[in-house]
Amino acid sequence: MAVALVGLPGAGKSAIGRRLAQRLQLPFVDSDHVIEERIGCSIRDFFEREGEASFRDVEQSVIAELAAAPHGVVATGGGCVLREANRQVLRAHFHVLYLRSLPEELFRRLRHDVKRPLLQVADPLGRLRELHDARDPLYRGTAHETVETGRPSIAVVVNIIVMQL
Ligand code: S3P
Repeated sequence: MAVALVGLPGAGKSAIGRRLAQRLQLPFVDSDHVIEERIGCSIRDFFEREGEASFRDVEQSVIAELAAAPHGVVATGGGCVLREANRQVLRAHFHVLYLRSLPEELFRRLRHDVKRPLLQVADPLGRLRELHDARDPLYRGTAHETVETGRPSIAVVVNIIVMQL
């Protein structure tokens, strides 16, 4: 079985993905970790040094590699749906779940975050709202199912997902 999780930063892709993988006894892969191994530094440093477009190129090749051998649970980076190639390849090779939370809830979880370059701005809540408006249709178009992750605990969300699979 191959499951990919998409959604905004803070939606729980890594935390839920790890628990879901344990529950299904499948390997778990966090695509941002694979990218960091490849670039040899943090995503934030890479963004600063090389720019977002270069980051998206690395991200696209990592997604393509993961999709070439689809297995387990993959947590993707929040921006992977920006490229059509990623949307197509994910939808074709994985059962894709959109973990959806509202920007206010994401802000509550991420307000002290320093790792995500796109949120290092004066108004991170405003940025999350913009990202939500721009990407919500892309996540919906990529995913086979949408799972609301705003309120319920990780364990409850994992149960809901397992029942739907
Ligand atoms: C990004 C989300 C991050 C990471 C990078 C860009 C985005 O992943 O890939 O900072 O564009 O939303 P998470 O969704 O795991 O935070």
